[in-house]
Amino acid sequence: MALREIRNLGDEILRKKTKEVLNIDTKIHTLLDDMYETMVDADGVGLAAPQVGILKRIFIVEDLETKALYEFINPVILESRGEQINEEGCLSVPNKTGYVERPEYVKIKGTDRNNEEFTLECEGFLAMAVCHEYDHLDGILYVDKVIPEDELEGFEELED
Ligand code: CO
Repeated sequence: MALREIRNLGDEILRKKTKEVLNIDTKIHTLLDDMYETMVDADGVGLAAPQVGILKRIFIVEDLETKALYEFINPVILESRGEQINEEGCLSVPNKTGYVERPEYVKIKGTDRNNEEFTLECEGFLAMAVCHEYDHLDGILYVDKVIPEDELEGFEELED
C-alpha cells in the first residue's frame, strides 16, 4: 500500500467526469487499498478516486457509527428521500467547511472488489457521506452546494 497525493480545489481533474470500471483487477484492488491508507492518513471518512487523480467511478466511505468501510465501484443511487443539512468538509478543500442540504435517506447499489453487486440503504451521516462522494464522480464538489449564510439563518428559524 502507498499514500497517494490528494488533489485540491483548483485542480482540473476534480471537475472531470469519471469512467465506469470495466475490469476489477489487482490494479483496482491496489487503488482501493491506497485510497483507504490515504484517507486514514488525512483523517477523513470518505475519498473518491478523482481526489487521487484517477478518473474512475470509485469511492470509499466509512460509517462513523459502525466503523464499517464501504468500497463502491460503479455506484448508482437508486432512491433518495427526505432532507438534512450538515456541516461538510472535504479532503480536497483543506481547513474549510460549509452547510449543505442532502437527502436524509439514500439507497445505493455498487460493485465490491470481488465483483459482487450489493445494495446499501443509508440514513443520516452515512447518506450525507455517500452523496458527497458520489458527487465527486461527476466533478461536483460540496462547495458548489453550500447554502449561503443569509439563507441558512432562514433554515434555522424554521427549525425553532
Ligand atoms: Co470530498
